[in-house]
Amino acid sequence: MVDRLKGKTALITGASRGIGYSIAESFAMEGANIALNARDPVRLEQTASALRESYDVKVSSHACDVSHRAPVDAMIAEIEGDGQIDILVNNAGIHMAASFLDYSFEDFKNVLEVNVYSVFHVTQAALPKMIERKAGRIINMASTAGKWGSRNQSAYNASKHAMVGITRCLALELAPYNILTNAICPWVVETDLADSFMAQHSDAAGVSLETLQSNLKNTVPIKRWIQPEEVANLAVFLGSDESSYINGQAWNVDGGYTMI
Ligand SMILES: NC(=O)c1ccc[n+]([C@@H]2O[C@H](COP(=O)([O-])OP(=O)(O)OC[C@H]3O[C@@H](n4cnc5c(N)ncnc54)[C@H](OP(=O)(O)O)[C@@H]3O)[C@@H](O)[C@H]2O)c1
Repeated sequence: MVDRLKGKTALITGASRGIGYSIAESFAMEGANIALNARDPVRLEQTASALRESYDVKVSSHACDVSHRAPVDAMIAEIEGDGQIDILVNNAGIHMAASFLDYSFEDFKNVLEVNVYSVFHVTQAALPKMIERKAGRIINMASTAGKWGSRNQSAYNASKHAMVGITRCLALELAPYNILTNAICPWVVETDLADSFMAQHSDAAGVSLETLQSNLKNTVPIKRWIQPEEVANLAVFLGSDESSYINGQAWNVDGGYTMI
């Protein structure tokens, strides 16, 4: 299908690489104009140029750290000065593995600031105009780590449980304004973040990276990692009119690992 998002504008945080980039590309393929965000302005502008060369849509880049409110307010004002935000994808996220006792408070806080408080800042800044127009979609990138416990990543799991919780509360509060909120919960997606957390987990557990990866792959019915576009396909559906009665859900993309 094509043009499922034609005429819409989507803001995607954490969009210079990985899942966020794949969502931006899939949205552009479906005709959406794209506002890209990440911290590194050079990498972000390279991403924006690549999308502009390949797709006949407007692409803007807005480099800032979404865990701080002032730059987020400036970013939203800049995007809204040029149009409107129809779809907000809260995707920016980080991972730091450590046993609970070994976490420094700074690291634990940093994970929550980037993964959770960013959702507070960006969503709160973007909502007034969505409420005014009585239309909008919010897609939060949670994780299967928001559905279960995992060893050596309590900060990450806490942050992703929080995202699922925020999604459900916003779904209740915003439905009267025709704003639908859903979360996506992927298992391991082949990106820089996954490479880094597997290296950290192999150190924390004292097993080789190869053993850790092969054990992990063998636990999932589809015995491979997820590709970013397999997550992006669901984001397109949740951003499109096809999902007009879907609200407050946390969708697993996990090859049948969890069946709840
Ligand atoms: N990969 C997985 O296995 C997996 C599984 C489930 C859920 N997820 C979730 O999916 C999301 C994307 O993950 P990914 O694997 O694509 O990660 P990734 O490849 O590391 O990409 C992360 C993106 O977020 C940006 N970013 C990081 N901190 C930011 C901040 N404070 N403000 C703005 N942008 C920031 C990064 O760019 P800069 O560094 O330039 O800022 C980059 O564009 C995350 O929320 C992650 O928790 C990932």
